[in-house]
Amino acid sequence: MVVGGQWGDEGKGKLVDFLAQQADMVIRPQGGNNAGHTVVTEHGEFKFQLIPSGILHPHVTCVIGNGVVADPRVLVTEIDQLRERGIDPTNLVISERAHLVMSYHPIFDQLEEAVRGDDRLGTTWRGIGPAYADKIRRIGFRIGDLQKEVFMRKKLDFVVGHVKNPILKDLYSEQSFDNDRMIEEYLGYARALDPFIRDTFPIVHDALDRNAKVLLEGAQATMLDLDFGTYPYVTSSSCTAGGACTGSGVPPTRIDQTVVVCKAYTTRVGYGPFPTELLDHVGDAVRERGNEFGTVTGRARRVGWFDGAVARYATRLNGATSIALTKLDVLDDMPELQVCVGYDFRGELHDHPMANISHLKHCEPRYEAMPGWERPIGECRTWEDLPANCRAYVERLEELCGAPIDMIGVGPRRDQFVVRGRPYFDR
Ligand code: GDP
Ligand code: IMO
Ligand code: MG
Repeated sequence: MVVGGQWGDEGKGKLVDFLAQQADMVIRPQGGNNAGHTVVTEHGEFKFQLIPSGILHPHVTCVIGNGVVADPRVLVTEIDQLRERGIDPTNLVISERAHLVMSYHPIFDQLEEAVRGDDRLGTTWRGIGPAYADKIRRIGFRIGDLQKEVFMRKKLDFVVGHVKNPILKDLYSEQSFDNDRMIEEYLGYARALDPFIRDTFPIVHDALDRNAKVLLEGAQATMLDLDFGTYPYVTSSSCTAGGACTGSGVPPTRIDQTVVVCKAYTTRVGYGPFPTELLDHVGDAVRERGNEFGTVTGRARRVGWFDGAVARYATRLNGATSIALTKLDVLDDMPELQVCVGYDFRGELHDHPMANISHLKHCEPRYEAMPGWERPIGECRTWEDLPANCRAYVERLEELCGAPIDMIGVGPRRDQFVVRGRPYFDR
């Protein structure tokens, strides 16, 4: 299992693509096209939103799991774009149980954000929250419904006629949705996606039964988790380890290893507390060097020092067996680094993010200074290749996280990893 340890964009896509070289199956368990997972190969850069990051390996079955909310327009576009680049995703399957983002979901996402004004969450406007809300409310549409036209029409009459249009008209004074147009549009997606739609239960469990190498590709991250993140400044799915199980149907007892991915510093897109945020020229420099601009929305990511309290929280919550530390090369130029070891709040030191986000907003991070290495590490491939100060930095983070850091990202390319110890699938 691969899960994000901070606020997203830690480099999960790159790690999954790397590990997929040895895997038989990659499953995306949750999230939707709010995710943007980047993979850089000799054929250029790929940004995956819904399709699992193992898709570039033809031998890997890629599963869009039941816990995903999929916008079919985006999915069809993603498949077409892959085909244009010479990759035919015949190894893709989509769970019948995954939910659909309907055309009204992004509209409600934007309208609700506008009404919140200064209290807005900074969502991606992709309709993720509204789609998950409808799933929980049992008025959602599932991918499998695309194959049932009569059912779709009947249910859409109810949902649009009795739930969506009244709100749209009465609350927002907006134009109503046209059911017939929506049905026509979604039937088009149904035709395009039909070859990929399956009951993924037997596919996943047959793979587990034959001890195939199955990789779960979490989207978003621990601090965006609906329960354990900085609520309400979170996404609407469970992006911690438990959510990866419910979102895929892989039982918790079958998880051998959980890799939490953390950047060597911290970033966040959207609003909400961020104790180690840097609002000065140091933050600007890291943003530039790390190219910290959103994969999905292009927004500048907020940047800050490594937060040991967040990383340890993620390690414990997800039961991490190891940590993949990414983007260490981005810190190459820094003469000195700060590492947050906890938060001072009302005379006490807190070693994990507090549930009360106003406390988290007003706490003072306690920092330890560490010397930088001021040398490029992009070509390092072994632990010994890394400069001594760089190794000391990694070892301090390892102590703070409480789990071994056994993969270190030193650049965006697939080969730019320092691997410590045995490869995951050989353990
Ligand atoms: P994800 O959402 O967790 O898959 O991460 P994103 O793809 O949204 O953002 C990570 C960005 O950092 C992408 O542009 C990657 O190509 C890039 N990246 C990943 N690992 C490394 C690394 O070790 N070093 C550098 N310099 N870039 C990296
Ligand atoms: P990956 O998988 C970073 C953030 C949004 C916003 C909040 C809620 O690429 O790491 P939503 O549209 O989900 O309702 O927005 O969550 N967010 C992400 N930030 N990486 C992501 O995914 C994110 N997915 C959602 O910016 O603050
Ligand atoms: Mg991303």
